[in-house]
Amino acid sequence: MTAAIRIEGLVKEYAGPPPVRALGGVDLEVMKGEVFGLLGPNGAGKTTTVGVCTTRVLPTAGRATVEGIDVVADPPRLRRSIGVVSQYNTLDRACTVRENLYYHCRYFGMTGAESAARADELLAQFQLTDRARSLPTQLSGGLAQRVQVARAIAHRPAVLFLDEPTAGLDPQSRLALWDLIEGMRDRGITVLLTTHYMDEADRLSDRVAIIDAGRVLVCDTPAALKRQVGAETVLELKLAGNADGLAETLARIPGVREAVPAEGGIRVMAASGEGLLPRVVEAAAPHGLRDVAVSEPTLETVFIQLTGKALRD
Ligand SMILES: Nc1ncnc2c1ncn2[C@@H]1O[C@H](COP(=O)(O)OP(=O)(O)O)[C@@H](O)[C@H]1O
Ligand SMILES: [Mg+2]
Repeated sequence: MTAAIRIEGLVKEYAGPPPVRALGGVDLEVMKGEVFGLLGPNGAGKTTTVGVCTTRVLPTAGRATVEGIDVVADPPRLRRSIGVVSQYNTLDRACTVRENLYYHCRYFGMTGAESAARADELLAQFQLTDRARSLPTQLSGGLAQRVQVARAIAHRPAVLFLDEPTAGLDPQSRLALWDLIEGMRDRGITVLLTTHYMDEADRLSDRVAIIDAGRVLVCDTPAALKRQVGAETVLELKLAGNADGLAETLARIPGVREAVPAEGGIRVMAASGEGLLPRVVEAAAPHGLRDVAVSEPTLETVFIQLTGKALRD
């Protein structure tokens, strides 16, 4: 497999004031045809990474190539190879949906006839034909996002960048967009997707890089990342009383790998073993156990283990 995106030692410092080191040496390789998730909390450096790859942000140091093209050396050539859906709605509000698609094609050098045909093809493909004459302001968030994705691939780029594509969308629109993104994979388009939703990264990505404070902490398939937690079960204990000594007691229960303080109680990582739950409950009862939530490790669990904090706080 060959790389579609290669990022090496990428550093970005915004001048400020105050100066901000948004990226502190990021290395990433995204393979051709892959859907790659960049997962991290707000301020982690996701948009800055995408910004460098899409020529919107100049790196302070390091290097990025997309489809073998250096992003700093040849921005115009690069832009023909990439599609971008930014974190915000960037549709032209003075133009209809169809015109947004049409003029994008014209901008990328297609003739009037080619652009019209491509716009109509995209409207049909994205089930937007009946909204062709709508203005962007008349669209729901989900529909507007669909138009942005259609526009982003109108010039048939090899690589598509989606920055927080479902942030702020209702659940139904999120699911519809997830289907669209899976369709990109089927068409062989490489996708770099940023998100702070662990379920989105998990569901869509062939591989995920977890980023925090401008650094990539881990990069692997979602399954491998969750295996790395080293537990099959996560128990979240909520306590009304204090947790003094409880973590130590819990850690001695067979199967328990780790017991750490968490919001309002204790988080227990364990191998799923017979009798585990009753023993944990028995140990926690004297501490005013109010609730137990049982789950499997998620990418959020991975993030918590790596950073000691939740993805969203
Ligand atoms: N144009 C800018 N000027 C100054 N600081 C910025 C700018 N853009 C982003 N930052 C800062 O850089 C860091 C990373 O931001 P960003 O890449 O937007 O993260 P994310 O997309 O993961 O939320 C944050 O601390 C943010 O405040
Ligand atoms: Mg962002």
